[in-house]
Amino acid sequence: MSDITIVILAAGKSSRFKSNISKLLYPLCGLPIIMHVFMTAKFISKNIIIVCNPDNKNELKKILPDCKFVLQKKQMGTAHALEQSKKFIKTKYFIVLSGDSPLVSKKILKALTKNFFFNKVKATVIGFKSKNPFGYGRFIIKDNQIVDIVEQAHLNENQKKINICNSGIIICEKKIFFKYSINIKKNRLKNEKYLTDIFNIFYKNYIPVNYYECKEEDMHGVNTINDLLTVEKILQSRYIKKFIEKGVTFNNPKTCYFNYDTNIEKFVKVENNVTFRENTIIKKGSIIKSNSYLEGVIINEYCSIGPSARIRSKSIIGKNTKIGNFVEIKNSEIGSNVSISHLSYVGDAKIGNKVNVGAGTITCNYDGKKKNKTIVKDNVFIGSNSSLIAPITIEENSKIGAGSVITKNIPKKSLAIERSDLKILRNKRTK
Ligand code: UD1
Ligand code: CA
Repeated sequence: MSDITIVILAAGKSSRFKSNISKLLYPLCGLPIIMHVFMTAKFISKNIIIVCNPDNKNELKKILPDCKFVLQKKQMGTAHALEQSKKFIKTKYFIVLSGDSPLVSKKILKALTKNFFFNKVKATVIGFKSKNPFGYGRFIIKDNQIVDIVEQAHLNENQKKINICNSGIIICEKKIFFKYSINIKKNRLKNEKYLTDIFNIFYKNYIPVNYYECKEEDMHGVNTINDLLTVEKILQSRYIKKFIEKGVTFNNPKTCYFNYDTNIEKFVKVENNVTFRENTIIKKGSIIKSNSYLEGVIINEYCSIGPSARIRSKSIIGKNTKIGNFVEIKNSEIGSNVSISHLSYVGDAKIGNKVNVGAGTITCNYDGKKKNKTIVKDNVFIGSNSSLIAPITIEENSKIGAGSVITKNIPKKSLAIERSDLKILRNKRTK
């Protein structure tokens, strides 16, 4: 929507998070907390302003492209943060989001704007009911009207019982807001200007406002490390729901971990304790067995992975291929109908189709200085416990005898075997 600017407040000090970096940069399902907010904001408007502080400005600039950055030099509260962006808001309306509330969805923001315009109010704030509202600002409502929003530290005993909380998400008309926000005073307890104080000022000046109620599970903020765990759990459940609706089957999905960008197609089966890290795509019909750890890999159709396989970034696994237990694959392209069933390391390699890699095969890719490439062409059979010293090429239809250390390129249709002669010394005592 072109007449809305989104202002993401991100200048807080993260004091409750107890971390040496800004909490907003902390990964949540593999993506910095604030990036979740930014990605949702992008769906609503191209005009995005980030209010940052001197400590997190450079880091935030690195990860958030196409945003206007506004510096709040001193943390003087949420209203003060918003004031810093006043001259950069060029649209009639703005939405305020908190960089630390990453669960908000585009569906909710669309519903919020719809509600705001439909009801012809000057501001709409999102609220939610919570069983444990401690820490949130509470709505003081009279005759269905928001009279005030009171922060936790300022609640009296009666107000502490109120369970309808402020999400921190507000849509407002710019002119009205900045006309009245000059009346927000620094409060005595924290020496901060609270954005939430605008609602009492609006009430006193007969400015029509309303609130839009959402579920707590869409509004949870991240103030502490415990909050991060709660929010991560909520996101994991959302991902699981999405996969199940698509036709992915699981044994116990709660034991698995999904990255925000994990893509699993229909008819995939996922066993227990599987970790999916960034850039992982699993194509239909594959099975991922227990305790596997996958990152940066495309697994094509009808593969069997694991149990206990580790596949590292920049890898592609061809159709109908088996990667078995205790196999590690890194930066490698594996063809279709390949079998690497047990205890192997395949790194910086290109393996053709219909290749069998015997148990304990190692691509010796590192010579102490650089990584070298191993190329294995179609229909090659590599016997167990072989070491392929890279750079090396094994041409098609060749065989490597078990236990060989292969240091030279092998031509096609050859058998390569490297073993010292077996000695059998009869009746020889060892002691
Ligand atoms: C805020 C709301 C509270 C609401 C809760 C929802 C206020 C005063 N309180 O409380 O009513 O229930 O969010 O999660 O708005 N920030 C700045 N500059 C500052 C202070 C904060 O940019 O000077 C940013 C923070 O980085 C954060 C957001 O504003 O992204 C909210 O600030 P925070 O201190 O987390 O407020 P809460 O106590 O959670
Ligand atoms: Ca917060």
